[in-house]
Amino acid sequence: QKFKEIVDRLKEKRTLQDEEYKLLLQTKDAQEQAYLHKAARDVCQSIYGNGIFIRGLIEISNYCKNDCYYCGIRKSNHHVKRYHLNKEEILLACKQGYELGFRTFVMQGGEDGSYDDHMMVDIIKSIRKSYPDCAITLSLGEKSKEMYQQYYDAGANRYLLRHETICESHYNQLHPSNMQIQNRVQCLWELKEIGFQVGSGIMVGSPYQSIDHIVEDIHFLEQLQPQMIGLGPYLPHKDTPFKDEAKGDEQVTINLLAIMRLMHPQALIPSTTALATISDDGREKGILAGANVVMPNLSPVKHRESYSLYNDKANMNAEAAESLHLLEARLQKIGYTISYDRGDYKKEVKK
Ligand code: 5AD
Repeated sequence: QKFKEIVDRLKEKRTLQDEEYKLLLQTKDAQEQAYLHKAARDVCQSIYGNGIFIRGLIEISNYCKNDCYYCGIRKSNHHVKRYHLNKEEILLACKQGYELGFRTFVMQGGEDGSYDDHMMVDIIKSIRKSYPDCAITLSLGEKSKEMYQQYYDAGANRYLLRHETICESHYNQLHPSNMQIQNRVQCLWELKEIGFQVGSGIMVGSPYQSIDHIVEDIHFLEQLQPQMIGLGPYLPHKDTPFKDEAKGDEQVTINLLAIMRLMHPQALIPSTTALATISDDGREKGILAGANVVMPNLSPVKHRESYSLYNDKANMNAEAAESLHLLEARLQKIGYTISYDRGDYKKEVKK
């Protein structure tokens, strides 16, 4: 009863006490989880219905100048076959995606110094011109505000940049000292100022993360009010310093997803590849807890294995852009369907 009252109050007031967040995050009780997840998916359905937006994810480069301890494409990993796509390859992926029905292209990559900014701006302009009805999302890491502005002016609409953890000491346990949480946070606010729809989020169960850290992240996202929220379990990668660390907890991830939906009713929340990787029905569980986006892989098939952020990353079947029918079949089973709309953020209409 107490649990239900907390969930109802979160739905109503969109905020809780820290101890209450922890209770919701950590519950393993099947009935409590069912109640939390249903509340979240009801809120989502009341706004977005039962259509799930799709985004074509084009992994444009696995070169990266950063050395994040958790990430498989970190600079120091010499086992990676590095690649980056040229303009023609990216435009071809967009064309294939468009024909499959995608109306959002997400260009994601490591912080690759060799894509000079000029070239990226040129690519964005070309996509904007060829596909005026599509949204362009970027996920290219930390840049200067001037650079972000140029991307925006070239026609990009959205930007994904997870903050990973808001706690400075924890951030420093996950990243070498040339990376700073203050920079990350500054980038996020600058992106918002420029007018991007902004996405942020965390890995759940990253090494050294405590439940209090997650509560701090909840508070940060409450301040930031991002239009998109990306959450997935931490998964180890064999060629990183964190290779022997435990993976994140699937249930905590899904509970957090539901909490985010209740706090941010209009947000675009993907059921992430990491969730689909940690268990076979992870994608479905995310949707049933309030996620409303999936991001099938639209990268050239020959490079997919090389964009390995963690072990066994799903990139086949329902995770593959060319197999939307498999995704549709899975969604049908749980009462959902693919939405081929562009899927922009819906601003709340205040009564
Ligand atoms: N496990 C899970 N997620 C990861 N990411 C990077 N490495 C891992 C990993 N080992 C996530 C980060 C990043 C996003 C693109 O992928 O949160 O922001």
